[in-house]
Amino acid sequence: MSEFQFPKDFLWGTATAAHQVEGNNINTESWVLEHLPETVYAEPSGDACDHYHRYPEDIALLASLGFNAYRFSLDWARIEPEEGEFSYAELEHYRRMLATCHENGIQPVVTFHHFTTPRWLMSYGGWVDDGTPDRFARYCEKAVNHLGDLIGVACTVNEPNIPILLSKILPFKMQDTPFWQNAAQAFGVSTERLGLFQFAGTPEARNVILAAHKKALNVIKAGPGDFPVGLTMALVDVQAAEGGEEKAAEYQYDMNDIFLEQLEGDDFIGVQTYSRMLVGPDGIIHPGDDVEKNQMGEEYYPEALGGTIRHAAKVTGLPVIVTENGLSSEDDTRRLAYFQQALRSVTETLQEGIDVRGYFAWSAFDNFEWVAGYTPKFGIIAVDRATQERTPKPSAYWLGKVAKENRYQY
Ligand code: BGC
Repeated sequence: MSEFQFPKDFLWGTATAAHQVEGNNINTESWVLEHLPETVYAEPSGDACDHYHRYPEDIALLASLGFNAYRFSLDWARIEPEEGEFSYAELEHYRRMLATCHENGIQPVVTFHHFTTPRWLMSYGGWVDDGTPDRFARYCEKAVNHLGDLIGVACTVNEPNIPILLSKILPFKMQDTPFWQNAAQAFGVSTERLGLFQFAGTPEARNVILAAHKKALNVIKAGPGDFPVGLTMALVDVQAAEGGEEKAAEYQYDMNDIFLEQLEGDDFIGVQTYSRMLVGPDGIIHPGDDVEKNQMGEEYYPEALGGTIRHAAKVTGLPVIVTENGLSSEDDTRRLAYFQQALRSVTETLQEGIDVRGYFAWSAFDNFEWVAGYTPKFGIIAVDRATQERTPKPSAYWLGKVAKENRYQY
């Protein structure tokens, strides 16, 4: 039996996003999209995990399992439900959440934007509009002024590269669906000006999102509190199959490096990894029927995390926090095995001298997996959708024990 001692102050946590767990986030653009005719969403988010009301018990449960950190997001649409109208009550809600983390010995890692956007922003085109970075920075400034003294780590924007990743793996273009037309109509913009965050994959949208990140970074750093600020990236481990070296390098650049190379002034890079992408001379080689897959159709490949940590550290030169990693499966024994293998690759990167500062499992709870609805199960804690009862799975106890001991035995 070998064991690995993690560095002192290593952050051990789980991650969630407001819209996926809070419930009834009715001012978001996502709520509108979920209810459109011909929507691509499998079902509406509804009450989600009712984390909005149940956060005190939820945070206490996470602490009791052994975690010392928790990553969650603020819902911009709650805080600014109409343009320029900021809700003191909602800011106070998040302040209580932060205080609850501290009372439980949990370091709060706060994401300022995790995919959802206030509906009103969409009437400007959302993430394709040049005015959006300033609007986002104004909200970040309000939020940090109210909450900054209690924040432990801040993430500005979650996964600015998700649109380009999705455009490579989806077998169809979202822009060609009736859903897209209905969405444009609902927000009163043309189909070309529909800048939904998860699907805004043009170079113009990328520039808007990166500008929003930079402005947010500056206002958050100027506010109260003194904590690291960075962004998080959807990093699939891009690997070249035989003859695919050139193509793989192209994918790596378009999906990842074009963002990673622009993070000057950031304090860390958030790595979010679920699987790998094999690239041959003609593009992506999708996993065959004989390959084990997660519920999202990706290959079961926990060692992807080592590859993405190395890549992100090399390109950015920044310390790394693994801000998301996990497996969607009904079978918790596979999730546990996934965590064991993924953590092995984290220990290897630390032994190689890479400055990895934390590990956050996605996700704390079985939750609303965007267009896929509630079918994929990512949680280490099961949630009964009818009663909201929480039941930690064996993987929660295992990971919580590693967290508590700050040590991994294998
Ligand atoms: C996102 C999460 C999502 C997870 C699993 C990440 O891209 O940040 O919101 O639930 O992956 O698909």
